[in-house]
Amino acid sequence: MAGYLVEDSRKVTTLRLQEMKNKGEKIAMLTAYDYTMAGILDEAGLDAILIGDSAANVMAGYTTTVPMTIDRMIYHASSVVRAVKRALVVCDMPFGTYQVNPTEGVKNAIRIMQESGCDALKLEGGVEIIDSVKKIIEAGIPVMGHLGLTPQSINKFGTFGVRGKDEAEAQKLLSDARLLEEAGCFGITLEKIPAQLAAEVSRELRIPIIGIGAGSEVDGQVLVVQDMLGMTKGFNPKFLRKYENLHTRIVEGVGSYISDVKQVTFPNKDEQY
Ligand code: KIV
Repeated sequence: MAGYLVEDSRKVTTLRLQEMKNKGEKIAMLTAYDYTMAGILDEAGLDAILIGDSAANVMAGYTTTVPMTIDRMIYHASSVVRAVKRALVVCDMPFGTYQVNPTEGVKNAIRIMQESGCDALKLEGGVEIIDSVKKIIEAGIPVMGHLGLTPQSINKFGTFGVRGKDEAEAQKLLSDARLLEEAGCFGITLEKIPAQLAAEVSRELRIPIIGIGAGSEVDGQVLVVQDMLGMTKGFNPKFLRKYENLHTRIVEGVGSYISDVKQVTFPNKDEQY
C-alpha cells in the first residue's frame, strides 16, 4: 500500500535512493527502534528508516551511544524489519564492532544482516575505518557512511557541538567523503556541520547525502523520530523542527486515564464483558 502522498509503492532500495538523487527528489528518513513506530512510519510513506544507535539515548536513557551493543541493535533492528514493507531499512553498526579490524567488522556486519534482516548498515568515520567499509561492501552489504558529528567518538570530541567549522576539519571531511564514495558507499549521513560545507559535499559527490543539522542543500534529511514528534522534552537543538508535541499530549492523555480510573468512569458498561 502506498502511503500518504506517495504513489510509488515499490520497496525502496539503495538504487532507488540513487535514482532519487539523480532526479533531484529529496529523500525523507527518520529513525525507528521498535515494531509499532516502524509500521506507522512505513505507512506514512517514508523513503528510509534508520535503526540508529541513538536507541541508547532515546530507548535506554544512556547519555552517549557508546554503551550500545550488537545484541541490542539486532533486537531493535529485527523489530523494525518485521513491521516495514516499503522503506529502505538501515541499521547502525554499534561502537566497537568495526573499529578493531576489517575481519571483525565484516563478521559483525554479516551477523547484523543475517539476524536482523535489515537492508543496509551505517558506520561512523572516514579514513580511520575505510578498510572495514571496503571489506563489508566486498561481502555484498550496502554501507552508508556517517561524517561530521559522529557520536560514537564523543569522548574524543568532548562536545556535541558543530563539526567542520575550521578549514582543516572541513578539508578532512571532504576527503573522507570522497574516500567513502570511492569505497562504494551508497550514501553518507552528514551530522551537525555548516550548511555550506554539506552543500559542497552533496554537489561534488554522486551518491546521496543525507543531512541532520546540515542545511537544506543536501539530498535528504534524517531526524530522530521521538525528537521531531516532540516526545523528548528538553532536547531543542537549532536544527530540530518539532512536527508534534506528543510529550504534552501523552501526559494529558495519561492524566485523563488516571482520573477516569480514580473516579471509576473507566471502564464503563460497554467496556466490560
Ligand atoms: O543514531 C542515530 O540516530 C543517527 C542519526 C542521528 C543520523 O545516527
